[in-house]
Amino acid sequence: MAPDSDNDRYAGFPPGFFSRVDHSPDSNFYLEPRLVTHIDDEAITAVGVLYRELKLEGRVLDLMGSWVSHFLEPPDELMVLGMNTTELSNNEHASSWVRHDLNLDPQLPFGNESFDAVVCCVSVDYLVQPLEVFDEVRRCLRSGGVFVNTFSNRCFPTKAIQGWGQTDDRGHVAIVGEYFRRSGGWMDLHAELRTETSGLGDPLYAVWGYKE
Ligand SMILES: C[S@@+](CC[C@H](N)C(=O)[O-])C[C@H]1O[C@@H](n2cnc3c(N)ncnc32)[C@H](O)[C@@H]1O
Repeated sequence: MAPDSDNDRYAGFPPGFFSRVDHSPDSNFYLEPRLVTHIDDEAITAVGVLYRELKLEGRVLDLMGSWVSHFLEPPDELMVLGMNTTELSNNEHASSWVRHDLNLDPQLPFGNESFDAVVCCVSVDYLVQPLEVFDEVRRCLRSGGVFVNTFSNRCFPTKAIQGWGQTDDRGHVAIVGEYFRRSGGWMDLHAELRTETSGLGDPLYAVWGYKE
């Protein structure tokens, strides 16, 4: 369900920003496994290099995950949350996984401060209640834990929120930054282009912040 338009936390996002062309249940769209990668090899490496630089260790949650989590060195414990059980059960880095639809229920099925880090790769654009999900990520992170969002310029266009499809890379960075700002309780926010600017491959943007 799209956020309530009179909910102050969403004020200023244009009408229809969080609606989607395909508003049927996500379980339909993700019924069949996609054992593919969604960005090119250089962009995937850029994700792993960022995770290494940020020293993601301990208990990590891969939010909106699939069969690959892109770590160069997998963390001690990796929980992967996604929509397709075949994809999830094929994730070799996962210590455990759970199928959970964040657009039906943004509440995460984990306890407070369960994770040292949370990552979300090429998927934040599918969230129709992003502030509720960011709140939940903050609840599940330990103090000082990091939440890393990475994304490129590709998506499943019928499943991305319309506000994402209507803007460009710079706008996407601004949208994710705004989710952090409006959700609140985050510090030390960063936004970077992590790939070369040659324009040949998929660009990889990262926006991350730390729980206060
Ligand atoms: C483009 S794929 C990216 C998968 C993976 N993060 C990666 O880097 O390859 C989008 C992912 O978002 C997940 N996803 C989409 N809608 C979701 C929802 N409503 N709740 C939870 N996960 C969702 C799907 O399971 C899918 O794996």
